[in-house]
Amino acid sequence: MGAGIAQVAARGGFDVIMQDVADEFLARGMKTIDRSLQRDVDKARLSRDEKSAIVARIKTTTDIGALSDALIVVEAVTEDLDVKTGVFRSLDAVTRADAILASNTSSISITKLATVTQKPDKVIGMHFMNPVPVMKLIEIIRGAATTDQTYEKIRALSEQLGKVPLECHDSPGFISNRLLMPMINEAIFALYEGVATRESIDGIMKLGMNHPMGPLTLADFIGLDVCLAIMNVLHDGFGDSKYRACPLLKRYVDAGWLGKKSGRGFYEY
Ligand code: 3HC
Repeated sequence: MGAGIAQVAARGGFDVIMQDVADEFLARGMKTIDRSLQRDVDKARLSRDEKSAIVARIKTTTDIGALSDALIVVEAVTEDLDVKTGVFRSLDAVTRADAILASNTSSISITKLATVTQKPDKVIGMHFMNPVPVMKLIEIIRGAATTDQTYEKIRALSEQLGKVPLECHDSPGFISNRLLMPMINEAIFALYEGVATRESIDGIMKLGMNHPMGPLTLADFIGLDVCLAIMNVLHDGFGDSKYRACPLLKRYVDAGWLGKKSGRGFYEY
């Protein structure tokens, strides 16, 4: 998702530094950005020159120290509390005192991430949806210490990016995944129990509920490891058995069938 976020920020006119741990991930991100912008060139929604200018606004680096002058950092690393807190500690050390540190987490507590920094008032959730260039929503999550000033800056930035910011408080899964993931998990239970085939489950939700993708296809698209991590956050956070992850979801993740990104999930790619 980091590449999608870099793309919309550069398209919004901002200078962007995309930082990752290895050059191969940066190269893959730039390739994704190029392909996505090329669709718009092909559809005559963007000129070649505009595309080149957007790409030129994105610099890539493996050095986190390169973010020392950034005004806003959007973290989009693996959905794992330890990995994210490690990144927030590093960001806190290298960034300016007035920099805002935003997280694209899909369910991890913003309040917890903020506590490992010296500027919890400037930590906020900026939850983009996949595919980032297409989806209009940014779910903005305030941590316990996030100030109105930080919130206002991020709300205004989201609008500058052509997105619609909608606000919620810090609570497991926020709004988006508190509602979406139990639906996906229930679809997996229905498959596990043999109530219907994958095609029927997805078809019923597409044709009957007008969802653009069925829940099993959407799970593959999001990543089954991410779905499982989010269910675990809901289960731990609320302590309510209604959020227990389906054993079939766990089994697929154990098998390395993570969805589209690994070539196999509920479908084959
Ligand atoms: N980059 C740029 N543009 C893209 C794109 C991408 N990766 N994928 C699709 N598009 C564009 C296409 O160019 C096309 O544009 P146009 O209609 O203006 O010409 C448009 O999106 C529709 O694409 P397609 O016709 O190829 O395919 P679909 O009609 O099936 O649309 C979709 C694709 C927009 C992905 C649609 O299937 C959809 O809305 N799916 C559900 C997405 C969703 O639910 N996202 C949220 C996931 S949950 C999440 O992100 C939160 C996390 O915390 C888990």
